[in-house]
Amino acid sequence: MCGIVGYTGTRPAEPVLIEGLQKLEYRGYDSAGVCTLDDRGVRTTRRALGKLAALKARLSSEPCPGTTGIGHTRWATHGRPSEKNAHPHESDGVTVVHNGIIENHRELRLELQARGRVFTSETDTEIFAHLIALARQQGLPLLEAVRRAVGRVQGAYALAVVDEKTPGALAFARLASPLVVGVGEGEMFLASDVPAVLAHTRNFVFLEDGDCGMIEAERYVVVDAAGVAVQRPVKTITWSAVMAEKGGHKHFMHKEIVEQPRAITDTLRGRLSFDDAAILLDGVDNGALLSTRRVVIIACGTSWHSGLVGASLIESLARVACSVELASEFRYRDPVLDADTLVIAISQSGETADTLAALKEAKRRGCRVLSVCNVVDAAIPRVCAIGDGLGAGTLYTRAGPEIGVASTKAFVTQLVALHLLALQLAQLRNTMTKEALLEDMTALAHLPIHMEKVLAREDDVRALAQHHVNARDMLFLGRGLLFPIALEGALKLKEISYIHAEGYAAGEMKHGPIALIDDAMPVLVLALPGPGYEKVISNLEETRARGGRVLALVSDDDHSLDDQIEGVLRVPTSHQRTMPVLAVLPLQLFSYHVADLRGLDVDQPRNLAKSVTVE
Ligand code: M6R
Repeated sequence: MCGIVGYTGTRPAEPVLIEGLQKLEYRGYDSAGVCTLDDRGVRTTRRALGKLAALKARLSSEPCPGTTGIGHTRWATHGRPSEKNAHPHESDGVTVVHNGIIENHRELRLELQARGRVFTSETDTEIFAHLIALARQQGLPLLEAVRRAVGRVQGAYALAVVDEKTPGALAFARLASPLVVGVGEGEMFLASDVPAVLAHTRNFVFLEDGDCGMIEAERYVVVDAAGVAVQRPVKTITWSAVMAEKGGHKHFMHKEIVEQPRAITDTLRGRLSFDDAAILLDGVDNGALLSTRRVVIIACGTSWHSGLVGASLIESLARVACSVELASEFRYRDPVLDADTLVIAISQSGETADTLAALKEAKRRGCRVLSVCNVVDAAIPRVCAIGDGLGAGTLYTRAGPEIGVASTKAFVTQLVALHLLALQLAQLRNTMTKEALLEDMTALAHLPIHMEKVLAREDDVRALAQHHVNARDMLFLGRGLLFPIALEGALKLKEISYIHAEGYAAGEMKHGPIALIDDAMPVLVLALPGPGYEKVISNLEETRARGGRVLALVSDDDHSLDDQIEGVLRVPTSHQRTMPVLAVLPLQLFSYHVADLRGLDVDQPRNLAKSVTVE
C-alpha cells in the first residue's frame, strides 16, 4: 500500500529517492518522507503531509545531504495521515520506512512502552525502529538486529533501515510485501517495484519472503529467515524506463487507455498459430488444464470483472464448470475445493493481499493453482510456479507497467489472456472444431485494429462526458458478457470521478433498481449485437418509460435507437466474444474525461492505492 525506496552510492541520495518516490506515488499519497545519512552518519529527516509535491517544496529550502538514504510514500493504515505519522520513523539513530501491516503491533507497543520506549507516532511501523534500536544497544550488528526484530513481528513488511552508526549501508527485510534490490555500478537501490529505479539500473534481485539483507555501494548480501546467507539471482529487466513515463499525455490513465491496442498485440504475440489452428500458451502447465474438472477464479476489483467474462468463455467454449469468487470473501467461507479443482488467480499487480491469501489457501487444500498476472515474478505468480506438484504456471498479460490507479490496459489484456486460456482448454478437451477455433483466433487478431477505431472517436466520448459532468448518480446496464463491462464502467466512474455509479445486469432492473429511475439519472445501456440484444432493448424501453435519461453503447451499423436515446457511443461490430474488449474502451474514456473535466486527480484518486497489499 505504501512505496519505499532506498539508495546508497556516491551520488546525492535525495534526488534519487524523490525520483523513485514519484514513480511509487501510485501506491499511496497521504504523506511522504525521506531520511539521508552523510559519510559521518549525520542524519537528516524531512516529512510532509499530503502528496510528494509538499515534501519536494520542503526539501527545496531544507535539503537532505548525504549519499545514503531511504524514502517513503504512505497510504495510511495505522494512524491518520499527518506529519507525525509520516515515515521515516526513528529511534536512537535507527530510522525505518515500512510497507505492510504489523498485526501484533498492540502487544509489541505495550511491551516496548513497559521497557521505557517512548512512541512519537500512532503507526505500527515505529515498533520496528524501537525493536531494532534495542537489539543494536545489545551489540548486535545491524543486519542481525533487523532479522531479530522482524522475527518478533506477525504481518507483512517490506522494510528499509538506516543507522547513524553504519553510514553507507542500508538493511532490508521483506515478508508478503514487495521489495527488490537494484544492482548498479558502484551504487545499490531498494524499491517496492522495478520502475522506481529503472532509470538507474536494469539489474534486479527479486527478494523472497523471509529474506533480510544489507546493501552497500559495491555489494549486497541476502540471508534467509534463519540468518543463513542465500544466493538470489540477478535478473535483467527488458522493458525501458520510458515505458513507465507519461510520454506526453496529461495523465498515465490516458496514456494507458491509448496504448491498449499495442498492449493487446503484445498479449497475443506468439500465442496464435494460424498454420495449425493452435493456441500456444507459454508458462502454463497443459496437464493441469487437461485434468481439471472444475475451475474457480479468484480476484478483486477490476480483475474480478475480467474473471466474470473469463468464466463465461471457459464454460461456453471448454464446457468446464467455472465459478468466480471475490478473493476477500472466498477464503473466509470454507469453500468446497479438491484436487480436481483448478484455481485461477487474476491480478494486475500480483500482490493483492486478498487474492494472494485466497490462492495460498486453495493451494493448502490441494488445488492446482494458476495465475493470470501482469507483473512478472510478483508474489502471486511465485505461488503458481510449476514444479511443486500444484503450481500450474502463470499466463502473463504483458500489458507493461500500469501506473494509473484506475486499471485500464491491465483489464483488456486480462480479457484477452482469459479468452486464450478458454480456447486452450477447449483445444485440449476437444470441445471446439478447428473452424470455430480459427474464428475466435481471427477475431482476437483483428482486435487491435478495431480498438484503434474506437479510440479515434475520443472527441465524441469527451462531448458526452461534458454533458454529464455534473451527474450525481449513473447506472450502467448490460447482459451476458457485457454485464461485467457494465460493472467495470461503473467502477471506473466512481473511483476517479467520485460520481455514485452502479453496474447492473439489465434483467435485474425490474427487481428493484428501477425505483431509482428519474429524470436526473443517466442510464447507459450496453446494447451491442449478441444473444441478449432484444432483451436489453426491452430493458432500455422500460427505463425510458419511467422518465430515465437513456444513453446507449451500440454498434456502428445500429441506428434503430437513434430517436429514443439522449446520447450515443459507438463501436465497430466485432465477434461477439471480443465485444467486451471494444465495449469497455468508450467507458474508460468517458470516466477519464468526466474526472478530468471535474478537475480531479485522475491518476491518484482519493483514498485509493494501486496495489492493495492489506486485507
Ligand atoms: O492488482 P490487482 O489486479 O490484483 O488489483 C485488484 C484491484 O485492487 C484493482 O483492480 C482495483 O479495483 C482498481 N483500482 C480498479 O481500477
